Amino acid sequence: MSLFFDSSIARKVSMALSAIFLMVFLLQHFAINLTSVFSAEIFNQISHFMGTNPLVQFVLQPILIFGVIFHFVMGFILEFRNNRSSKVKYAYNNGGANSSWMSRNMIWSGLAILSFMVLHFIDFWFPEINTKFILNDWSGLHNGEFRYFTELQHKFSYGPRVIFYCIAFCFLSLHLLHGFTSAFQSMGSTVGRKKLLQNLSYLYSICIPLGFVFIALFHFFNH
Ligand code: HEM
Repeated sequence: MSLFFDSSIARKVSMALSAIFLMVFLLQHFAINLTSVFSAEIFNQISHFMGTNPLVQFVLQPILIFGVIFHFVMGFILEFRNNRSSKVKYAYNNGGANSSWMSRNMIWSGLAILSFMVLHFIDFWFPEINTKFILNDWSGLHNGEFRYFTELQHKFSYGPRVIFYCIAFCFLSLHLLHGFTSAFQSMGSTVGRKKLLQNLSYLYSICIPLGFVFIALFHFFNH
């Protein structure tokens, strides 16, 4: 284990793998949440399926939680080692023209996302866990109707929460703007594909957070 943490290649690759995994999760999370804008019924159906399917609940969800924790812990370890070592600095993205403000401040945008996650879990995830695993209620119902859409609308009817979420989505965008290209470069994406990678990075890092902002504002103005 200590050999693993001593190898900067292993640290970079594992960080990149966890980042790519989380970006895939974010894409599906966005797609599911976007349905709430078009149809309360479809959103309820998908949420109920995801919330009660044994494969999702007992296999994918624990892997996801592990991925989230791993990414944050590795991020802190990398930052700590970068600061400690004056000789061998871990380069998020090999300096020069690419050494952007985003790349030098990944730890701060990461911390902003971490604080968002704490609030987000308190808002949505802990109540779900409580209902299912503590109260043992897997029906998804409240007063005879699916509760997912109503709960979502209720949460986004509170202005300060919506503002905090939207600020967090801006930090998410900054984090992704560097993280997306960096993760694929760490996994060996070639220089020849640099332009394509850059364009995909802009597409993902701007559209997904902007989409989350849209969902939050939509429910705020339509509750
Ligand atoms: C408008 C934006 C968002 C909405 C409406 C939303 C909604 C939700 C809901 C309803 C849940 C509970 C799912 C359940 O367990 O049944 C959830 C969980 C979660 N959300 Fe979000 N979310 C948003 C943005 C984000 C963002 C930007 C991230 C990551 C940076 C994120 C990460 C997570 C994670 C890790 C979980 C727990 C895992 C899961 O159960 O799916 N969410 N979210």
